[in-house]
Amino acid sequence: MEFFTRSGEETIALGKKLGSRLVPGDCVALSGPLGAGKTAFTKGIALALGIREPVTSPTFTVISEYEGTVPLYHIDAYRLQGPADFINLGAEDLLFGQGVCVIEWSERIREELPDDAIRVTIEPAGGEGRRITLENWPRRELTPV
Ligand SMILES: Nc1ncnc2c1ncn2[C@@H]1O[C@H](COP(=O)(O)OP(=O)(O)OP(=O)(O)O)[C@@H](O)[C@H]1O
Ligand SMILES: [Mg+2]
Repeated sequence: MEFFTRSGEETIALGKKLGSRLVPGDCVALSGPLGAGKTAFTKGIALALGIREPVTSPTFTVISEYEGTVPLYHIDAYRLQGPADFINLGAEDLLFGQGVCVIEWSERIREELPDDAIRVTIEPAGGEGRRITLENWPRRELTPV
């Protein structure tokens, strides 16, 4: 499924739409370059899970946990040197837990992702435009934002 957003707000709205359809145990694997909008998309997911705290990229802490209707584990793999780092952090357990995991820079730990991870790719498409591709989505199609 392919979407196109024209602002950060529209990407948040799309994240919210997807977030409202997530269930415990889901893993959302985000990829896309610096500033693509991965955190914006995650903010939308957090809103859908009833999280009011501001969501920021956990670049230095690697993992942030938020208490929502379902726990949200927000992981940023940017600084990880590879899969071993990810395993040493204990992050693998989170992927198979009862929360929702959202992983920025998931391409850095591709081998560690569950086979059923929902893949979201965000690509710059001129100015504030972003092409957002959703793969391995197991449920009824999302309508455009
Ligand atoms: N269509 C759009 N979708 C998302 N963000 C957009 C869009 N247009 C403009 N922006 C702006 O681009 C920036 C995206 O920042 P964001 O932190 O979400 O990116 P990121 O992919 O998480 O970056 P990083 O790799 O540093 O973690 C924000 O400032 C946002 O307002
Ligand atoms: Mg980010």
